Amino acid sequence: MGSVRTPLVIEPATADDIEALNEIWFTAFAKDAGMMRLFPDTPVLRGWMADCHAHDFKNRPYQFYLKVVDPDTKDAQGRPSVVAYGKWDSKTAEFRGPRFLPWAEETPADECTKVFNMLEANRRRVMGDTLIPSAHSPSTERRGAGSMLVKWGCDFADKHGLPAYVDASKFGAPLYEKFGFVDRSLPDQGEIASMTRPKTTA
Ligand SMILES: CC(C)(COP(=O)(O)OP(=O)(O)OC[C@H]1O[C@@H](n2cnc3c(N)ncnc32)[C@H](O)[C@@H]1OP(=O)(O)O)[C@@H](O)C(=O)NCCC(=O)NCCS
Repeated sequence: MGSVRTPLVIEPATADDIEALNEIWFTAFAKDAGMMRLFPDTPVLRGWMADCHAHDFKNRPYQFYLKVVDPDTKDAQGRPSVVAYGKWDSKTAEFRGPRFLPWAEETPADECTKVFNMLEANRRRVMGDTLIPSAHSPSTERRGAGSMLVKWGCDFADKHGLPAYVDASKFGAPLYEKFGFVDRSLPDQGEIASMTRPKTTA
């Protein structure tokens, strides 16, 4: 008989988790050629992404970082290992301003600007000017971590009477569909899925 695994746990992430968040992101997207072209896995890009997270932890209290930890495995500090993370933003892009710090020098800046302008335009196209959470939830294992992160955002949206939006990947789309998100991408959007979930009516 196989051993019983302790259930994963979802909890707020903090700036102390930035290295783990980076590791998860670069692992989760390692095989995504488009994402690796924009954000190659180099020390410079890892440093830039860490700076972006640090900036948001410090300056954007309306963004909620969540982590999913595995109580059965420990990191170098003896803490439960982070196996997935997500980030929900409760404000609009217009309120928050640019999503990232200025691009790192190893980033193809023009291409990045084009992709993220396209994402914001899609968000406006499918959502209008409503308050929205947006999520990003990479994970390395099919153990329910992604579902826990998406459920957190849906519960938040329902509690506050908000519709929700995610810039998902086509690969990740089935995860969001399980929670009522619909892919509203245009045919020429490639691997990116612009997904919305209507606000629930009481
Ligand atoms: C997509 C991803 C976030 C899912 O995370 P996860 O922790 O494995 O998610 P869960 O265990 O909760 O699985 C939820 C659903 O995702 C889908 N899914 C997860 N892993 C899958 C796989 N290897 N193949 C096909 N579907 C998969 C399934 O629909 C699954 O539901 P099911 O198990 O009831 O069929 C994760 O595989 C990932 O990070 N992938 C690479 C990066 C990425 O594309 N992230 C999404 C950004 S929007």
